[in-house]
Amino acid sequence: MRILVVGKGGREHALVRALSESPGKPELFCFPGSDAIFELAKPVAADGLESLVAWMKANAIDLCVAGEESYLVKGEGLANLCGKNGIPCWGPPKESAQLEASKEFAKEFLVRNGIPTARGVATDTLEEAVAAIGGVYPTVLKFDGLAAGKGVAVCPDEASALDFLDDVFTQRRFGAGRVLVEQCLVGPEVSIFAAIIDDQYLIFTPARDYKRANDGDLGPNTGGMGAVASRQLISQELLSLIEKEIVQPTVGGLRAEGLPYRGFLYFGLMLTETGPQVIEYNCRFGDPECQAVMPLVEGDLAAFCLAGAKGELREDLIRFSDGWSVCVILASAGYPDSSRNGDKISGLEKIAGARVYHSGTRRTADGGWETHGGRVLAVVSGGDTRDEAVSKAHAAADLVTFDGLQRRRDIGILNF
Ligand code: AMP
Ligand code: GLY
Repeated sequence: MRILVVGKGGREHALVRALSESPGKPELFCFPGSDAIFELAKPVAADGLESLVAWMKANAIDLCVAGEESYLVKGEGLANLCGKNGIPCWGPPKESAQLEASKEFAKEFLVRNGIPTARGVATDTLEEAVAAIGGVYPTVLKFDGLAAGKGVAVCPDEASALDFLDDVFTQRRFGAGRVLVEQCLVGPEVSIFAAIIDDQYLIFTPARDYKRANDGDLGPNTGGMGAVASRQLISQELLSLIEKEIVQPTVGGLRAEGLPYRGFLYFGLMLTETGPQVIEYNCRFGDPECQAVMPLVEGDLAAFCLAGAKGELREDLIRFSDGWSVCVILASAGYPDSSRNGDKISGLEKIAGARVYHSGTRRTADGGWETHGGRVLAVVSGGDTRDEAVSKAHAAADLVTFDGLQRRRDIGILNF
């Protein structure tokens, strides 16, 4: 089997690694990929969506796996183009990927399908947004488009709201687009991932992302500074409630509205006092949750995704281990406002008993590694208990050094 994975970060490194461990030993390709990914998957000579799909066709690719979201909604859409060319794709077509690409589309879908979510109003101007906020703080403001994780502001007061609205409507920092003004929900967050295949689904191991830059969950929002995953993260009762009130109506809504879906769907949930509510959908796996979850997946992920892309849910092909998995992110100087490239990474060779996924690194001329991005490495370890996974992951992360390294010491420990 020949599989092409689209993406270049730690999530794709974890996906490629999990696919490479599938018993059928698939031949792997990655676009655009990274130096670390290219140790497991071959690079692809393409320079955009059209040429990528043409390359897949010419090279007899059996399955395309969408790691990241951007190609799903670019141009004609990755899955749409794959479909036209007869290439099975694990990832939804453009129309369905609006669930991630447009916050307004997602909000309307949620409301139409009676799925619990925060109240929200779409606005076109700064004045409309201020009126929609109505002086109630904290409030949540969301740019209605893909904004590389920077499009959401939880605003404690008017000054911070005006700052964000100025960024969006005056500076046009994310380009043209509306702003969704949303009720601020309170509670712990949990990330639920489901493989959705038409009207069928399989829920993967739940995870929690540590989004803030600093210990104690303080500081600015980031792409994610670490994650913990386990079946035991939430109770069976809560998972059943999430399945009944959120996952099933989502799958039903997609079907009823004629939105085809074969791929991972990420439910970003907040566990409020009145029950779980959806804060966002993403049409892909989470990063860094993927790095924590993949080591818990046993069996044949490659065959599972191929069957899924062809419309068949093969639950018999994969299993989830019972233990815990903890992923610690090492980030470069300046992250999340900026990042620093070129800092030499040491200590990787000392790591044993943990997996290292590369989020943003580059090979150096002497065969070592240097930083090349904001999030640099994900160090992941597992254990039968949460404590064991936490100590192993942090101990392994302690072995890696580079100038300007930033990391959180409470990943897996802080329970919120
Ligand atoms: P998103 O980019 O949609 O994942 O949002 C980023 C973060 O903003 C989420 O992980 C939450 O911590 C926070 N957030 C988003 N929507 C809400 C909401 N309605 N109430 C409170 N916090 C929210
Ligand atoms: N971990 C958050 C995300 O992947 O969007």
